Amino acid sequence: MTHSVAETLLCCIEKVDDGVDSLYIATELEVDHQVIIGAMNSLEAHGQVGLQPRSSKHWELTREGSEIAELGSHEARVFGSTPVGGTPKTELMKLAFGKVGFNKAMANEWIRVDKKTDRIVKAVENIEDQVREKLLLVQRGQASQLDDKEKNDLKRRKLISEVMVKSFWISKGSSFSTTITKQETELTAEMIASGNWKEKKFKPYNFEAKGIAPDCGYLHPLMKVRTQFRQIFLEMGFTEMPTNNFIESSFWNFDSLFQPQQHPARDQHDTFFLSDPALAHEFPPEEYLERVKKVHSEGGYGSQGYKYDWKIEEAQKNVLRTHTTAVSSRMLYALAQQQNFTPVKFFSIDRVFRNETVDATHLAEFHQIEGVVADYGLTLGDLMGILHQFFTKLGITKLRFKPAYNPYTEPSMEVFSYHEGLKKWVEVGNSGMFRPEMLLPMGLPDDVSVIAWGLSLERPTMIKYGINNIRELVGHKVPLKMIHDSPICRLDS
Ligand code: PHE
Repeated sequence: MTHSVAETLLCCIEKVDDGVDSLYIATELEVDHQVIIGAMNSLEAHGQVGLQPRSSKHWELTREGSEIAELGSHEARVFGSTPVGGTPKTELMKLAFGKVGFNKAMANEWIRVDKKTDRIVKAVENIEDQVREKLLLVQRGQASQLDDKEKNDLKRRKLISEVMVKSFWISKGSSFSTTITKQETELTAEMIASGNWKEKKFKPYNFEAKGIAPDCGYLHPLMKVRTQFRQIFLEMGFTEMPTNNFIESSFWNFDSLFQPQQHPARDQHDTFFLSDPALAHEFPPEEYLERVKKVHSEGGYGSQGYKYDWKIEEAQKNVLRTHTTAVSSRMLYALAQQQNFTPVKFFSIDRVFRNETVDATHLAEFHQIEGVVADYGLTLGDLMGILHQFFTKLGITKLRFKPAYNPYTEPSMEVFSYHEGLKKWVEVGNSGMFRPEMLLPMGLPDDVSVIAWGLSLERPTMIKYGINNIRELVGHKVPLKMIHDSPICRLDS
């Protein structure tokens, strides 16, 4: 509908030199002015027409005016209702138009009261209903044919009123043509591949568009939940670790964590290796490298090691870090270099990368939340206690621990929480005490233990926002409704 109106509109404009008024076009085409406005706005966006807003005063019939234009003035109707032999006044007054019509008809001397019979009779043969004629002129948009006095009279009788009408002057635009070409809004990969983008017309960006963007910035749901986790750590006295390096050497990501070089996680299928630069430039001091090499290949500190030929070339390989424990390792090494050991509580929440097959719950990258506490004589009981404290702040009170294995922690425990909604125990994290094979080569005092735990940021976020597909949590399709939430992140509800 609008499409054909747009084309008709273009044809009309083609015929005129300077342009036409949108109201005039609406009357000519017998369509609602709003329809013309819709059509011309889209034509303007295509550069087919130019628009100039205008406003003008315009006389319109009131409801009573329209009735008179249709049926005649009250006085004319009184005249018309008066039979040849006259009628009693009381009869006339019963009619809706009787009272006003009687007075006007008397004033016009169209009727008179017959003294003898006391009946209303016609005083003239014919009348001319000028009021109706004038109103018909106004109705046809020819109010200009009336003089000011006549218009004011009709206005005083509330038969016409003056209104301000807004319209547009439509003229030919810079890309005027009588046919409508569809403008592309997106440059697609197919267009580039086939080269047919050259023939396409593209819609220009509308930088003036107000759009539907909210009137202030919002945090991405992941960043929102991250803020809440960060708050919990800060309340518990933890300091945030610097995690601003996605690229890590295999040394910090694996070797320093006592993860053997043949470990399956170090395979191309699990880890993204960098091709350029393939090898890390920055490396720890030689003595530390030697100690790591030794603990892997020969053992030491009461450990048998893995008994294999540890190679520096393998440790030099750059990877996209597979866990933020690489950062914890760097931080613990730096801590060990201090003159005097001081207990620390560290945390980090940042991105890690794994070469996984992408599905509804796995992406090749996710965020890891990690907590680390180093102090003299910490025990597994401390780890369980701190995990209880941490998860209680999230609203999770029922926890269970299951023995697990990590190359760098011993003992290791998976953390499960009872999910009230699912009515079952779900895994919420992984934890453990860093091995002496990791800590002692760094130079930490041997009576210092380090407890640590890690969990993903995506999982609690998905639970919190009821998302089943992790792909809805990343990219440009994140629903804005997810920004409305309660201030506390609860994993178990
Ligand atoms: N790095 C572990 C992981 O990637 C998490 C973890 C951190 C486990 C610290 C134990 C201690 O899953």
